[in-house]
This record gives sequence, structure tokens and C-alpha cells, in this order.
Amino acid sequence: MGIFYDEENRLFFIETANTTMCLAVVDEEGFLNNVYYGSRVGRDDLFYLIGGKENPSVPSRNDRDRGCYFDKARLEFPSGGTGDYRTPAITLRDPDGHDSSLFTYVSYRISETKEDMYAFMADGRKVRMPATFAGDSKAACLEIELEEKVLGIRAFLSYSVFEDSDAIVKSVKVVNNSDTTVMIDRLLSSNLDLDLSAFGNHQPELITLSGSWARERRLDRRPISRGNSEVYSTRGESSHQFQPFSALCEKNTDDSHGTVYAQNLIWSGNFVCGAGMDQFETVRSYIGISPEHFTWDLKPGESFQAPEAVLVFTEEGFDGMSHIFHDLYRSHLIRSPYLHMERPVLINNWEATYFNFNTEKLLAIASDAKKYGIEMLVMDDGWFGKRDDDNSSLGDWHVNEKKLPGGIKRLSDELEKIGMKFGIWFEPEMISPDSDLYRAHPDWAISSPGRVPTRIRNQYVLDITRSEVRDYVYECVAKILRSADISYVKWDMNRQLADLGSLGLKGSEMGRLSYLYTLGVYELQGRLLEEFPDLLLENCSGGGARYDAGMLFFSPQIWCSDDTDAYERLSIQAGTEMIYPLSTMGAHVSASPNHISGRVMPFDVRGAVALSGTFGYELDITAIPDEERAAIPEQVAIYHRVGDIVREGDYYRIARVSDIGLYDAWMSVAKDKKRALLTYVQCKGSPQTGKRLIKLKGLDPEKRYDLKLIGADTEGSRFCSHGKKHAWNVFAPGCVSGRSLMNAGILMPVLWGEYGQMMLEITEREN
Ligand code: GLA
Repeated sequence: MGIFYDEENRLFFIETANTTMCLAVVDEEGFLNNVYYGSRVGRDDLFYLIGGKENPSVPSRNDRDRGCYFDKARLEFPSGGTGDYRTPAITLRDPDGHDSSLFTYVSYRISETKEDMYAFMADGRKVRMPATFAGDSKAACLEIELEEKVLGIRAFLSYSVFEDSDAIVKSVKVVNNSDTTVMIDRLLSSNLDLDLSAFGNHQPELITLSGSWARERRLDRRPISRGNSEVYSTRGESSHQFQPFSALCEKNTDDSHGTVYAQNLIWSGNFVCGAGMDQFETVRSYIGISPEHFTWDLKPGESFQAPEAVLVFTEEGFDGMSHIFHDLYRSHLIRSPYLHMERPVLINNWEATYFNFNTEKLLAIASDAKKYGIEMLVMDDGWFGKRDDDNSSLGDWHVNEKKLPGGIKRLSDELEKIGMKFGIWFEPEMISPDSDLYRAHPDWAISSPGRVPTRIRNQYVLDITRSEVRDYVYECVAKILRSADISYVKWDMNRQLADLGSLGLKGSEMGRLSYLYTLGVYELQGRLLEEFPDLLLENCSGGGARYDAGMLFFSPQIWCSDDTDAYERLSIQAGTEMIYPLSTMGAHVSASPNHISGRVMPFDVRGAVALSGTFGYELDITAIPDEERAAIPEQVAIYHRVGDIVREGDYYRIARVSDIGLYDAWMSVAKDKKRALLTYVQCKGSPQTGKRLIKLKGLDPEKRYDLKLIGADTEGSRFCSHGKKHAWNVFAPGCVSGRSLMNAGILMPVLWGEYGQMMLEITEREN
């Protein structure tokens, strides 16, 4: 790992254990090109890869056809308007409206210190932006300074690598050294031009994650062609609809094999992320803040910081990609003290009661829950103002004494007596038109003059770009947290931004609003964690509309989706797990039939699916069938026994129900490969589909392992083959080598009925 500059050939080598990125300073004028990114190569004079020192690589000496160069070159920071007609990484506009620019090399700086990233609110408040940090690992960092000579703008491109990671993190800062304001119309965090040979000279495919409310992060795969394929958010959040992520891969790339070039943005607001092929089959892949609803009037002396992007290259398929993302985020992004800790098993009252609860009901749930091994009660929406449905009171964060006589303090005291921890829900960024806050401060809602703001879930968004609004919001949350013993906060955000307008911004500053909104969220959550460092924060946004790396800088877990149907969750979680560690994935067992889908599903299947995330319950424990209640202690015990494998281990995808329709399966394998957990969920009890051979992954071929069925009826009453019931040991091998388990596999029975699950605890036999 390291960063090296070959002065003679003007080449930068950014190296991780298994990858190299090589950047070249080209020509007398100093254009920055990306010469190579892929598997590790030597520190050779790779200049030959871009056509050596011949035309068209020497635009300065080819005045007649300068455009040929820009049209073709693999530019690291394309600015557009001077001959590169592909998607630019930056677009600047001078006061007279000219929008061409050209950045050339000035200098570089290599260091071993990864600096924190900061940006500024409109009132000048400095906010730490989410970004990777070195932590316990060594880092190597490169800053390349480029200049736009005509406009007097400098761009600082930053690259960092860590000793224990194959990812490269990039960001860009733009500084105005001129004496006029220059408008930034577009500034992406990363541009990567790749030759088709990176994909075996075949048309590459693009993987993105898309969805909607209650259907987040489903896998999309499509070939890319000439022209761009893009995903984006303009909703002021990373969104249910798309992820700030894409992966370019070879046609045959699967979970275990093949080339992947992935990118993910550490940002929770608007973004664009895409790829496309040009006339020369060069593939341009890019990611950054969306240019929609964005302009930044960069005043003299000001700087603008774009968020950090993570680039991942692997030849080990999507599992290999996931390992790099998961390890990077666990070691270099998530700061919470809970990261490596067993999280309290919680019960949340949302699906149990919705708005219809009081202290008595919550305590009834809590006392029952305690008896069955659950450790924390989370009081969800409806405890404040006069909120008996979702039409009022957001902003009025004072307790509803009719529902909770004696207030939050009494509830938390009673919970303490029972021996339960206490968590609470907030939606701090919002304001209901029917609220005392809105009646007092209608101008605190984001809105555009002369326009009645669009209502979504009958609410508006607070203009947290203004410091007085942010301070109010902060105090509302902090005051409640100071008033009682509260261990956990679920921070929700249930609508998107629209009608963009802020009284705190004037004229050309208005284009800053979306960016500053996201920064405002970061400022609030950063401040909260400073005052309450022991708080377990779970982010949420109408389920998983703000499930992104930016929020993981603040909270170690995020509510994955409002869809708690275990069958639906298989696909939602499979998409989420491609990028984010399982330890971050809020997953709960809910009641059957499921409230959203009406699907009926056995309790053990619901448990198995939730056990691959941060485990908990989302149901009225006093009202579920006795046999379900009786099964809770064992589920909780499994969580305590194997939770560390899920939290800390390597994740492997074995089968996707979205591919094969019949079943879904995945594994977590401890880093030392001594223990593993396989979860297999049958989705269709189809006869005549015969045996299901599962090849395990990630084990040590030389070790011998025992396989133990956990969390199911080991007598075999659920197993059925040709009408006969079998015990699990008919299918299970005895103690077998990792080599056989991975190469030959194990036989899974066709289970009786529509849905079934099998969790196998896999443990190394010591002798
Ligand atoms: C969102 C969350 C839910 C619940 C409701 C409350 O939809 O995702 O879990 O908290 O809000 O209104």
C-alpha cells in the first residue's frame, strides 16, 4: 500500500494490496489522465498506454486538432466546454455566462495523514463532513492541485488508501482565488475513464440498486452501451428509489467471480451516479452531487468541498466487492462505540400499536418482552403534541400527557424497574402545518415564495439550513434526552424536499440549499453525539430512504425498510448487503399476516431473516400466539450466540430468490474461519424440484467443520421428501472438510410448506 510519484515520467501510482491506479501528467500543459486502474501492476513507465508522446497525446504541439485529444483522452477531472463532449466532472460559469474550463496540473503533496473533511453552513458554522478516517491503520494520501488559469480557480483532488483495504477514496475541493464570483454548476466527486479491455473487451454491465418505499435496493443489471445510464436522487435524501452506488462488471461476473468496478458516495442528499460508453468504447463512470437543484456561487476566497467517493476494484465478483466495502466502512467510517458491540434486542411499538398507545400499554409490552429476553423498548411515533395520526404536531416535541401521564421520565423510570432499556423516536427535520411551531413560525418551512408548498404525508420540511431553526430542533431533541434515561434514538425523516426556498439564502445563493440541508442534518447529528456520546442512534427515513454511507458516519445502524415481510426482506436485504455491513441493517420480526403485504409466514422464518441484521421485534408481544411468544427466547439466544459472526464476519451470497425463485441463502464467516452461519430460506415448496445442493463459501479448505441445525425443529417434522418425513441428519454430513463443503456442497431438503428456513451453525472441529 502506498502512493508514489515517478518524477521522470510524471506518473502517480496509487496502490493498495491488490490494485493500482496510475495517473499521468500529460504534455507541457499538464493534463491529468487516468492511465490505468485495476489489478496491481509494476511501477513501470505506463505512459505508453495512452499513446506515448505522440499525437494526439500532445495537444500543445497539435494546435490544428487539439479537440482530438480532449475527445479521446481518459481524463481524470474532465471539465467540458473545450473539446471533451462527454459528461464533465465540473462545470463552471463566469459572471458573463461563459461555461468552458480546463484544469491543468500545478503540484502534488503526498502524506501519511488522512485529514478530516469540513464544510461551512451559510452562517459560517463549520461542519465535519462524513468521510473515511485512518483509524488504526496506516494511510497514504495524495493531493493533486489543478488550476483553471482563466478563471483563477484551483481544484484539489484527494486520494487516500489504507493499509488494510483495497478501496481508494477520492474527493474534490474547489477554491476561488480570483476576485470575481464563479458559479459551480456541477461538481462530481469522481470520474473514472476505463478502456474496454478492463471488461475483457466486451460490453460491460451496470449494477445499480433501485426501488421505492417498502421495496428498497432491488438489484438492477443491464448492459451499458453508447450514451449514459444513470441513477440519481433529487429528493434531498439518498432515496428509496436509487442508491448512490453503481458497479460496472463483466458480462459473466457473478457473486464469486469476475471483474467489478464499484463506486459509492459518502453523502446523504442529492446525487448522480452513472456510466456510459463513448465513440471509442471508452467507459466513463462518474459519481457525485446531482447537478439538479444545485449551483454554488463561489465567492472570492471561498472553497467548496464535494463529498467523498469510494472506488472499489476486484476480480472476485460481488462478494469480493462487498468484503471491501464492509471492511472499509467497519474500520474507516462508522465511529459509533456500538460498532463492535452486541446491540440490545429491542421491541418497537410501531407495528404493535401505531399511534394508539399509552404508558400502560407500553409497559404491558415491555414487561412481557422482558420475560422473553428482550432488552429494550422503543417508543415510536405518536408520543408528543396531539399526534394521534400522522396529520399533526411534528415540531411540537413536548410529551402528550394524556397518553403518557407523568411524562417520559415516569415511563423511563418504570422501564428501569422492569429492567428494560428505553429508546425513543423523533422526526426532527419536519414540521406539520397543524402544529404550534408552524403557527408561530410558518417561514421555518422550506418553501418557495408565492407557491403553496407541496405536502407529503401532510408535512413540510424544516429549513435546517438556518441556524435558529437548527438550534430549535437540536434543543427539542436534547431536552428530552436530558430529561430521562434514554439509550437509543430512532431519527426518522418521512418526506422529500420540494419547493426549494430558504429565507436564509439570497438570490444566487439559493442553489446551495439542497447541499446545505444535508450538511444541516450532519451538523445536528454530530452535535447530538457530542453531547450524548453513549447514545445508540438508528437512522431511518420512511424505512430505508437514507440508507447510505453518509449516515453511517453518525449511526451504526439504519432501519432497512418499512417492509418487514420476511420474504420481501430477502431481496431488500440482499441489495443492502452488497454495500453495507450486516451490522448496520435494522431488521425486526413482525406479526403475521404482515401489515404491509398480508403475507402469512412462519415465526422461525421471520426470525431467521431478522437475525442477519440488528435483531429486534416490531409487534405486540401481548397479542401474538403463545407458541410464537415461546419461540422468542431461543431466537434471542441465537442472536447472542452467533451475532458476532454476522456483525464482524465476511458475508457471502449463496443464492438469490430474485434469480431462482425457490430459495435464498447467504453466509457470514468469522474472520478466523473457525465459525460460520448459513441461512437458507425456502420460498417455494415446489415438488419435483428435487435436491437443493448448496455450495458453502469462505471456509478454510484445510479445516474440518461440524454443522449444527439451529432455530428449527430438529426432530425433522418440517422436512419432507416424497411424502416422507426425514430428520436433518439424513441430509447433513458428519464432520467434513471445508474443501468438500465448498466444492461439493451440502444437500438441503425440500421443506414442508411454502416458507421454511434452516440456519446452520458451522464450527471448526478442533482435532
Ligand atoms: C416511518 C418509519 C416507521 C415508523 C413511522 C412512524 O415510516 O420508517 O418505522 O417510525 O415512520 O410514523
